[in-house]
Amino acid sequence: METRELIERINRIEIREGKERTIKSYVLRNNVISPKAEGIIGRYMEKYGFFYEDSALDYEALFGNANPVVIEIGFGMGDTTAEVAIRRPEFNYIGIEVFLQGFVHLLGELGDRSIENVRLIRFNAVDVLNHMIPDGSIEGFHIFFPDPWQKKRHHKRRLMNPEFLHLLATKLRKGGYIYMVTDWEEYAEEVLEISSQEQLLVNPFGGFAPPVTWRPMTKFEQKGMEKEHPINEIWLERADLF
Ligand SMILES: C[S@@+](CC[C@H](N)C(=O)[O-])C[C@H]1O[C@@H](n2cnc3c(N)ncnc32)[C@H](O)[C@@H]1O
Repeated sequence: METRELIERINRIEIREGKERTIKSYVLRNNVISPKAEGIIGRYMEKYGFFYEDSALDYEALFGNANPVVIEIGFGMGDTTAEVAIRRPEFNYIGIEVFLQGFVHLLGELGDRSIENVRLIRFNAVDVLNHMIPDGSIEGFHIFFPDPWQKKRHHKRRLMNPEFLHLLATKLRKGGYIYMVTDWEEYAEEVLEISSQEQLLVNPFGGFAPPVTWRPMTKFEQKGMEKEHPINEIWLERADLF
């Protein structure tokens, strides 16, 4: 595919393009593609990236192996994503992010460092999960420092709401996990509360979880710590109902 066509497709990031009726968990800012970004897209998009399609993903075709698949939603600049993929090579990772600069940055890192167990898509994660991810097929979800949407009137934009948590749960295989970390305490408490109402999920820790050894600090974690925010970790698992 020509680079121009790749860029055109990368710039389509949601199904209901331009319709403001759906509440979104993100705001798009700078959408300009620099010559450097264009080079990265031309070199690496076809190998490490994929596009939205209204059909179930074939993980084996995407990764070339049958390893379990972990999805990270909102990876930002993606430095943590790359590091986790290196530290836990027994998993395949799908990174979903709408932020253009971050998407291209991680694409470049994957290509330059030959990190072979990560694939990226630039699209609204809600649409990707609803249309491309079969139920019961995912080993884990990583959601690190989701936008807190601090003002009360913006809380409806929060990614982690009851409906989304249920959607994540339906995509998990039995025993699969959801791992969220945030520096926004009230959001963390809210997610704990929502998750306690979700029958498809259990919280093995009964409250906040201890940190895992394999997660390096993210950009937004650093910012939160500079403001002396507490870092709260939430680890939920798919309930074995049957
Ligand atoms: C506060 S940043 C955190 C980035 C990174 N995880 C970190 O800790 O540094 C949240 C990211 O989630 C992305 N995001 C929010 N809603 C999204 C959605 N529905 N689909 C894809 N990405 C989303 C935003 O674009 C943003 O880059």
